[in-house]
Amino acid sequence: MKRMSIRPILIHPDPRLKKVAAPVPDLSDDLRRLAEDMLETMYDAPGIGLAAPQVGVLERLIVADAVKDPDAEPQPMVMFNPEIVLSSDETNVYEEGCLSIPDQYAEVTRPAEVRVRWIDMTGEPREAEFDGLWATVLQHEIDHLNGKLFIDYLSPMKRQMMTRKSLKIKRERARV
Ligand code: NI
Repeated sequence: MKRMSIRPILIHPDPRLKKVAAPVPDLSDDLRRLAEDMLETMYDAPGIGLAAPQVGVLERLIVADAVKDPDAEPQPMVMFNPEIVLSSDETNVYEEGCLSIPDQYAEVTRPAEVRVRWIDMTGEPREAEFDGLWATVLQHEIDHLNGKLFIDYLSPMKRQMMTRKSLKIKRERARV
């Protein structure tokens, strides 16, 4: 029987969102369960990516599904120890958001294409190139593993404004 559960997502500001996550050692059933939980949490939110530090686990694991069309086949992606090994000079601008910074969006410029190396759910090493929204999502999630948020790419003033707003939402949610 498959046991899955939705985990609470940390809201910025939180010191755990600013830490560098540790590499995942050998895959275990616990880690696979965490990945399944993260996928369920991401789809439930709903979001297109989630990193383990966002659910309070400081390990290098991300999940993503950049297929936004609700009629298309979902493409759940689980990456242990993901690493960007190559980035294009060409850039892309996307309006990004983050499940840890609710209801706030801003344009971020990133490399348009990346080559990523990771360990999949079966423990196999994989490597592939990503472009479009996939490239942006994976870079955003891998940033989380290094304690970096998308608002860190913005001006200090904009970052402070969004942090204050996020803190307000966080306090409101804590009160419920
Ligand atoms: Ni995020």
